[in-house]
Amino acid sequence: MHRTEDMDELMTCRLDHHRRQVEVATVVIFGASGDLTSRKLIPALYQLYAGGQLPEDFRVIGFARRDKTDESWRAELREALDRYSRTGPVDEVLFTGFAERIHYCRGDLAETDGYTKLAGMIAAMPTPELRENRLFYLATSPSQFGIIAEQLHEANLLERGPAAGWHRLVVEKPFGRDLSSASALNQELIRHAHEQQIFRIDHYLGKETVQNILMFRFSNSIFERLWNRDAVDHVQITVSEKLGVGRRGGYYEESGALRDMVQNHLLQVLALIAMEPPVALDAEPIRDEKVKLLSAVRRLLPEQVAKQVVRGQYRAGVVAGQAIPDYRAEEKVATGSDTETFVALKLFIDNWRWAGVPFYLRTGKALAESASEVRVQFKPTPNVLFAAQCGPRLDANSLTLRLQPDEGITLHFNGKIPGVGIGLRPVRMHFSYDSEFGAYTPEAYERLLLDALSGDPTLFIRRDEVEQAWEIVDSVRAGWEGQGMADDAFYPAGSWGPECADQLLARAGHAWREPQIQR
Ligand SMILES: NC(=O)c1ccc[n+]([C@@H]2O[C@H](COP(=O)([O-])OP(=O)(O)OC[C@H]3O[C@@H](n4cnc5c(N)ncnc54)[C@H](OP(=O)(O)O)[C@@H]3O)[C@@H](O)[C@H]2O)c1
Repeated sequence: MHRTEDMDELMTCRLDHHRRQVEVATVVIFGASGDLTSRKLIPALYQLYAGGQLPEDFRVIGFARRDKTDESWRAELREALDRYSRTGPVDEVLFTGFAERIHYCRGDLAETDGYTKLAGMIAAMPTPELRENRLFYLATSPSQFGIIAEQLHEANLLERGPAAGWHRLVVEKPFGRDLSSASALNQELIRHAHEQQIFRIDHYLGKETVQNILMFRFSNSIFERLWNRDAVDHVQITVSEKLGVGRRGGYYEESGALRDMVQNHLLQVLALIAMEPPVALDAEPIRDEKVKLLSAVRRLLPEQVAKQVVRGQYRAGVVAGQAIPDYRAEEKVATGSDTETFVALKLFIDNWRWAGVPFYLRTGKALAESASEVRVQFKPTPNVLFAAQCGPRLDANSLTLRLQPDEGITLHFNGKIPGVGIGLRPVRMHFSYDSEFGAYTPEAYERLLLDALSGDPTLFIRRDEVEQAWEIVDSVRAGWEGQGMADDAFYPAGSWGPECADQLLARAGHAWREPQIQR
């Protein structure tokens, strides 16, 4: 055998034989006239339909207050697909078939009439599977999740426990705004649905590169052996966005970077990077390990917050040629707002593997680049030979997992500069998804919808995960209580955040590494 592709094919190991089947079902989207539905949910369902990944017989019912007919909603969705379809122009024949399976139910979430109408529409479905298998997607404000579950239950549409077919709730973020509101929301949902019926979304987990973290760690012996306090100096997790808050100022004022990004996406990535191997590649063992890891993240005392957490807010600046105003001058933002648009944290994990290793997390808006990546910085070589001569100019090894864009993995090491002299320079070994596998980048929502339809909760957040993550975030918020934004917290849009975020690392002899995006 000569060709490497043949070898690759031979060595390809498929693990999805135990994946559950996507079953015929009716998907009900609450919040059908909203932004998420037209930008993400319908394009994802259309893509799955176009790819033959949905059962031939499925139905979607959109539920919202606005007055629409099946036809007018389909026409709106057709336009939305023109804007948001990931594969370019919409195929008219395909769309006709897709649209025939889409219906609209007008109703108010708080009133019984709408649910009675919805129950009638579901009862009139042509097959038992369409009548009995129900996926309720809650794309509304979280304050409405509880009432929807209750009304569905009252209308005999959501049974807790055994029923003919299955009933599932998919719940959007944010899941609460602190531990107590998240627990209260869990209590409300759990009255009408078992934990196994609740699928809490964190779309980050639907990303291929985030899923690859576990595959990469646990299928490659060379890295896993180094994945501990003996070899790792520190870890950096960056999720940066170039955009400011734009028109979402009202929402952002209520959340801020810590709640909006750290509680979910960054702590989920941290859990996958640092957790112990699960006993099996199944939902519960994987989620058990994530919970264990999150519970080992040291909670910060208020006095530690000042030393280990930096918050920031953007001032006017230019990002990629676009002027961005002061955060405080954005639409629906209070003129004296203390909402953080940037946060950087230094966290420790109190377990055997990671004792003493700092994990730096940062996220923010109006930053220099939009990028998500994890950098595992290994310890330097002993202070003899090159290290003794070069000092800090001799870079230590690191491994960067690029979650987006330019998805891939880069190993940084030192190499000799060719020539008669002895010179060293950091060089890179670069793996890119695009060049290895071609440009296959399914939207996270496609994967997550398929998983919810097949009843696989692996990529959804379990109740105890949410609660652990809120405990970490609440400990930070408690340290901020009653304290305004410090003068040095402001950073110009287009920078990498406030200078004190650099000092947070510099105090330990570390420095942020800026994402290196190949263009
Ligand atoms: N947009 C995103 O990119 C995004 C990303 C991540 C998570 N999320 C989450 O997804 C959820 C939805 O976000 P969104 O941006 O799509 O919100 P949105 O654009 O404000 O849409 C809200 C939807 O809820 C419906 N609604 C509100 N009150 C109602 C009532 N009393 N009865 C019936 N329907 C009602 C609205 O329909 P009518 O006005 O027609 O009643 C509308 O369809 C939120 O939890 C959000 O945090 C959104």
